[in-house]
Amino acid sequence: MKLERHTPIFVAGHRGLAGSAIVRELQRREIGRLLLRTRSELDLTDVGAVERFFENEKPAVVVIAAAKVGGIQANDSLPGDFLFQNLQIQNNLIDASRRHRVGKLLFLGSSCVYPKQCPQPMKEDHLLTGPVETTSQWYAVAKLAGIKLCQAYRRQHGCDFITAMPASLYGPNDNFDPKASHVLPAMIRRFYEAKAAGLDEVVCWGTGSPLREFLHADDFARGCLLLLESYSDEQIINMGSGEEVSIRVLAEMTARAVGFEGRIRWDTSKPDGTPRKFLDGSRLFSLGWKPCIPLEQGLAEAARGFKP
Ligand SMILES: NC(=O)c1ccc[n+]([C@@H]2O[C@H](COP(=O)([O-])OP(=O)(O)OC[C@H]3O[C@@H](n4cnc5c(N)ncnc54)[C@H](OP(=O)(O)O)[C@@H]3O)[C@@H](O)[C@H]2O)c1
Repeated sequence: MKLERHTPIFVAGHRGLAGSAIVRELQRREIGRLLLRTRSELDLTDVGAVERFFENEKPAVVVIAAAKVGGIQANDSLPGDFLFQNLQIQNNLIDASRRHRVGKLLFLGSSCVYPKQCPQPMKEDHLLTGPVETTSQWYAVAKLAGIKLCQAYRRQHGCDFITAMPASLYGPNDNFDPKASHVLPAMIRRFYEAKAAGLDEVVCWGTGSPLREFLHADDFARGCLLLLESYSDEQIINMGSGEEVSIRVLAEMTARAVGFEGRIRWDTSKPDGTPRKFLDGSRLFSLGWKPCIPLEQGLAEAARGFKP
């Protein structure tokens, strides 16, 4: 779909990591008449409020970057919230978009939706070929339902609803809350606090050997705009950086980024987690997108953005 300066675009979750990056990219390219609402202005779990918003504002494009998001601890301790709120938010937005004939909708999945024992790199076809990781199953099941609802509405109603599957994102407006953050912001906080307290050692869980893939939010946002403009298919599409980094190297990079000069000790009595979570990004690469922010550079900027 061609995005014009006057196209009414609703970015749900525009203050979050993913949503704010999409808004920055739209503004940078001077695309779209942006429809933005904070949670207090529009609670997306409220079906009536969502309906009134669509009735009044008539968005032509909807990006669902609103969700209840968090790390392993948050997922594990609030399973009901993760399942129910995510189902509500996405059901309300996807169904309102169908009824109000939205021209394009982008839903965001996540690499944790793939099976726990997924072959690596993970291809789009691997979805639903095995059980998901148990700690994040509530979030994953909601995401799977959202992916399927987009596909079902495309088949049954001809809706141009698509799903992207991004790797772990990082960048401006990341969540540093220790109870809800992902690995990279959690590490920035830990090393920052160790430096501030004058500690000479930081203890990290496991061996440091698991490999992870990180994507800067600005690269992600460029990918989302490309998909909104040029991708129209039932099949989900991966969005990864194409580069893996071990948790050990990530910890060393983080220490450098925050200026922590002490020792990093690996507590091998603690679990490592999934050894590898690497997306096969070849389908999106073939559309002409490629990430351009190197991890070390993006990480240094993210560390500077951390406010204790
Ligand atoms: N971060 C990643 O590594 C990653 C990776 C792959 C996919 N994704 C996907 O990207 C999407 C956004 O993730 P994120 O990391 O940007 O999350 P985030 O920073 O936590 O942002 C989520 C946004 O959703 C809003 N929101 C949540 N519940 C709401 C409600 N009931 N009503 C209105 N707004 C609500 C939040 O508003 P408040 O600010 O008011 O809380 C926040 O602005 C999610 O679908 C996630 O699965 C993220």
